[in-house]
Amino acid sequence: MKILITGGAGFIGSHVVRLFVNKYPNYKIFNLDKLTYAGNLENLKDIEEKPNYTFIRGDIVDGEFIQNLFNEHKFDGVIHLAAESHVDRSISNPMEFIQTNIVGTVNLLNSAKAIWKDNFENKLFYHISTDEVYGSLSDEGFFTEETAYDPHSPYSASKASSDHLVRAYNDTFGLPTVISNCSNNYGQNQFPEKLIPLFINNIINEKPLPVYGKGINVRDWLYVVDHASAIDTIFHNGKVGETYNIGGNNEWKNIDLIKVLCKVMDKKLGRQAGESEKLITYIVDRAGHDLRYAIDSTKLQKELGWKPSLQFEEGLEKTVDWYLANSEWLNNVTSGAYKEYYEKQYK
Ligand code: NAD
Ligand code: DAU
Repeated sequence: MKILITGGAGFIGSHVVRLFVNKYPNYKIFNLDKLTYAGNLENLKDIEEKPNYTFIRGDIVDGEFIQNLFNEHKFDGVIHLAAESHVDRSISNPMEFIQTNIVGTVNLLNSAKAIWKDNFENKLFYHISTDEVYGSLSDEGFFTEETAYDPHSPYSASKASSDHLVRAYNDTFGLPTVISNCSNNYGQNQFPEKLIPLFINNIINEKPLPVYGKGINVRDWLYVVDHASAIDTIFHNGKVGETYNIGGNNEWKNIDLIKVLCKVMDKKLGRQAGESEKLITYIVDRAGHDLRYAIDSTKLQKELGWKPSLQFEEGLEKTVDWYLANSEWLNNVTSGAYKEYYEKQYK
């Protein structure tokens, strides 16, 4: 089996590539990544020499390049993670999101359709998406697979659009597709522009912790390794044409999560209790900020037998330990362009 994984040098993608390369030595895994600011081959150092692994640098927006790649390698399966993924960047620069998340996805769909030529046996196009397509919840209720789409940011609207296109290729052309929509991930190798790694980095450097609005927004956090294992389960056992929600059943109000993180960091850094909390700084809210996300993953748990492996407290400690032990990784990704982004975003 030849599997194309897109966005495999990014945060979640690198965990998926590692899992597949190690667990399935008989599969040939191709990692296609443009290596944007979010892509980092350092994430895959431990597996880069494996005989069943190939890295290809390229842009999914380039339709001709993508078609040639499919013609050359004749992939049997696609796990599509490549995306512009950060909500704040989608507010300052939406066009990148339209190109990569929408046009890039259609290029992949077209190439899969062309190479598989209506002989879809044992083929699968697996699209990785987000719970943000469902919009925002009030204090009650959960997103299920039947929840109507209601995206609010250019990021979530572009992901919603790509989900619709994937379903349209299944309905119209019979392309064998499956989609999963996951909640917020955390863990090692996450670029420090997202809440948890950004705050870990700022606490290390004793910089302000910029909390949007009142810090009352709620997110459902899942350890990235558990997302990768859900992707493995769905890729192998999911039903064609179906959608699966993935979540941690682990809701946290931002400010509560931040306070727990501050405590863990004080302990790990040998600082006085309460030191890191003093860095909390409330700033102007994110535009169109969704209040609450919460996933109902009953379908995935009941039908495919997946469940998360870790409690949040354990996952958070592991994550903090990794960032503290990998200061070189953190320093490398926060030099250069990161500084410019940071100044603009938090000015
Ligand atoms: P990320 O930003 O860390 O990684 C994205 C990767 O895609 C990077 O390696 C980047 O170089 C690559 N990429 C970007 N544009 C590309 C292009 N035009 N061509 C080829 N490669 C390109 O993202 P992530 O957090 O790992 O998210 C991966 C996927 O999972 C995304 O589709 C995202 O929407 C989805 N998702 C993320 C989360 C989360 O909490 N991070 C939750 C649910 C779903
Ligand atoms: O829900 C899944 C989504 O989770 C994924 O699809 C996205 O790719 C991923 O980036 C993430 O989106 P969020 O916007 O929820 O994640 P982020 O880490 O940017 O923010 C989490 C919460 O923390 C959110 O309510 C905004 C808040 N926040 C974030 C940052 C970066 C702050 O208060 N301050 C900050 O500086």
